[in-house]
Amino acid sequence: MLKSGSRALVADHRTSVKINEHAGMLSAPWTLFNSFVIQQLVSVRRLIRNDWSDSEQDGNLNGLAEQYLGRGEQETWERLRGTASRRREWLLGRAVAKETLCDVLAGCTGHPPSPAEIEIVADQRGCPRVKALLVDDPQTASVVSISHVGGVFVAAACATPGLRGIGIDIEQVTRVNEDVMRFAFSASELQLLQGLPAGAQANWPARLWCAKEAAGKALGVGLFSGLRDIHVSSVNATANIVEVEARERTKEEPRLRLGPAESMVVHTSDDGGLAAAVCLWNTDAEKT
Ligand SMILES: CC(C)(COP(=O)(O)OP(=O)(O)OC[C@H]1O[C@@H](n2cnc3c(N)ncnc32)[C@H](O)[C@@H]1OP(=O)(O)O)[C@@H](O)C(=O)NCCC(=O)NCCS
Repeated sequence: MLKSGSRALVADHRTSVKINEHAGMLSAPWTLFNSFVIQQLVSVRRLIRNDWSDSEQDGNLNGLAEQYLGRGEQETWERLRGTASRRREWLLGRAVAKETLCDVLAGCTGHPPSPAEIEIVADQRGCPRVKALLVDDPQTASVVSISHVGGVFVAAACATPGLRGIGIDIEQVTRVNEDVMRFAFSASELQLLQGLPAGAQANWPARLWCAKEAAGKALGVGLFSGLRDIHVSSVNATANIVEVEARERTKEEPRLRLGPAESMVVHTSDDGGLAAAVCLWNTDAEKT
């Protein structure tokens, strides 16, 4: 089962996730979420590249684009406008996302595809969807999510059948200050934060923020019409778990059809001044 250069996290054929450690992978498995990854058959990766100067980047990034992007994505890359840092985050975010997909697809098929064989296309809401795979197997239907902040690029992917979405988010802890908290959190969310042990007060506002973002991404809607529509209903600071409810929005966003209330379990953590959260949106029968 094990291939040279790969490490199986779970030694079971169809559901194992292989972490590729081949030279040439840009990112590394993000150990912060190891227990979640093993339990849920997910790959979570991180790349830190905050030393890339704008003047050196074009040639390097075009080379990377050739290596990582499929034909349709190449066209998107060539048309992509915006600042140098926006182009860089778009490309590096995708590169990390493709490496997570290589991990989970290697678990489904036994052979990791090359990143350029996997196409990620943003839907009309901006949600990254895995569009084309050169793997002819509906069991390999997979979901992916991307987040980037200040030179850190993370992604999470999962290829479990029936999974409706995955979400990952990172944020600088210091950005979720009192002003942000006032507009981001409801009275009951602020109460949950106040009830946490004193040591947890510093990082948990950012963790809650990330939990809401990750849930919005898993649903494919982002923070669609305001932070209050995705609501934190409980916090378990010992288990690093947050429960989140997405409320129905029928008037402003009739197309969302989220159902009366979708609830999700979000795993959170923090590391080196960054808060992070990751969650799966499962079918009702398989809530985690
Ligand atoms: C776009 C949004 C999904 C997340 O944005 P963000 O937290 O600023 O940025 P992140 O780096 O974490 O995530 C961006 C990625 O989310 C993904 N994304 C965008 N829209 C999405 C959607 N509807 N569903 C799922 N994922 C989505 C994209 O892959 C995007 O990266 P890309 O465009 O390079 O491919 C949205 O929730 C948003 O705009 N949030 C507000 C951000 C804000 O106010 N921040 C202040 C922090 S204090």
